[in-house]
Amino acid sequence: MNTIDNVRILEIPKVHDERGFLAVIEKDTIPFSIQRVYYLYDVPSDSYRGGHAHKEQQSVIIALSGSFEVTLDDGKTKKRIMLNKPNQGLYLPTGIWREIDDFSSGSVCLVLASTEYDESEYIRDYEGFINQL
Ligand code: TYD
Repeated sequence: MNTIDNVRILEIPKVHDERGFLAVIEKDTIPFSIQRVYYLYDVPSDSYRGGHAHKEQQSVIIALSGSFEVTLDDGKTKKRIMLNKPNQGLYLPTGIWREIDDFSSGSVCLVLASTEYDESEYIRDYEGFINQL
């Protein structure tokens, strides 16, 4: 069973010159093979996203632009992490409840996922999440 201790920040290698930064995600940057990429944009600042855990999916969440807060919960411990660096990814293993809020204006939340979309591997009911631990 995964806990908050299995969550970590991944540093995404970047190249800088006078024209700006270029960040690169390669096979070895991420601890799983990427099957899907999705992103949230035009998110109202009072929006609340997430509110689920996954049975199968591992994810890396990146604040490509702007900032937002990710609240993590393994059923015992909660942790709130602000993401605001486009060259950092928040790695979430399976079984971690996540909620995302406090989106800054113009923020973009990129998610790299280890699985294709499959609603049956979501746990969207918090009580169900706690009970399956
Ligand atoms: P939802 O899981 O509520 O988004 P978030 O975790 O950001 O709060 O997903 C919103 C809708 O989009 C929901 O109807 C499921 C659908 N969806 C897909 O069709 N494909 C996907 O890859 C994802 C992540 C969601």
